Amino acid sequence: MLSVSNLHAFYGKSHVLHGVNLFVGHSEIVSLLGRNGVGRSTTVKAIMGLVTARGTVTFQGRDDVLGLKPHEIAHRGLGYVPEDRAIFPDITVQENLLLGMKSKEAARRWTIDDMYAQFPRLRERADAPAGVLSGGEQQMLTLARTLLGDPDLIMIDEPTEGLAPLIVDQVARLLREIQRRGISILLVEQKLAIALDISDRVYVMGHGAVVFEGTAAALRGNAKVRKEWLAV
Ligand SMILES: Nc1ncnc2c1ncn2[C@@H]1O[C@H](COP(=O)(O)OP(=O)(O)OP(=O)(O)O)[C@@H](O)[C@H]1O
Ligand SMILES: [Mg+2]
Repeated sequence: MLSVSNLHAFYGKSHVLHGVNLFVGHSEIVSLLGRNGVGRSTTVKAIMGLVTARGTVTFQGRDDVLGLKPHEIAHRGLGYVPEDRAIFPDITVQENLLLGMKSKEAARRWTIDDMYAQFPRLRERADAPAGVLSGGEQQMLTLARTLLGDPDLIMIDEPTEGLAPLIVDQVARLLREIQRRGISILLVEQKLAIALDISDRVYVMGHGAVVFEGTAAALRGNAKVRKEWLAV
């Protein structure tokens, strides 16, 4: 479904990714793990056309993703939820959600009511300006808005960062529900327990490249990799 081959990325002269290879299959949850600064966010940004990159990114059989503009990539069905919340603070929660919706004619997996059912807090705040929401609520709003664009694969960068444990569980449940509806997920996650719990497969990055790939169970059983590349 999504395949990334020999991906290099650059911030000016700084060469940050050194040939990342990864694959996300249909309806899979795949996590991208690694210590701070190893290039996890850069990987998803490069796939999304937000960072200068070379290599090959293939999505749904088309290998010309690199070089497209971010909105063109989104239009092909690749959703992206950045680390920093991407909401419009001055308009209401409901208006933010409406803006996320793909054209009315398109077959949609999700409705605004689905989003309110997943996140009752957003329904309560529907008429409030999005800017007054807490950080966690803004995170949910960003995720909800991206889902309303009806992506076939969604890349989510640290959705649980800074959230209360109860909300973290809600996000984990939603990720499973997303998968159940046939959407693939590439998840950047810092919390190893959650990543192992919900992922089919995981990639561990170190120094701008993948240093381990395998099932969640394989990583759980591999203390050496966890110690060398994940422990703080
Ligand atoms: N806009 C930027 N300009 C220059 N260097 C950057 C920029 N963004 C990130 N970097 C550098 O690129 C490297 C990879 O950063 P990246 O954001 O991909 O890390 P990460 O794995 O997502 O970790 P974390 O989210 O914990 O910071 C880091 O060394 C970082 O300092
Ligand atoms: Mg990051």
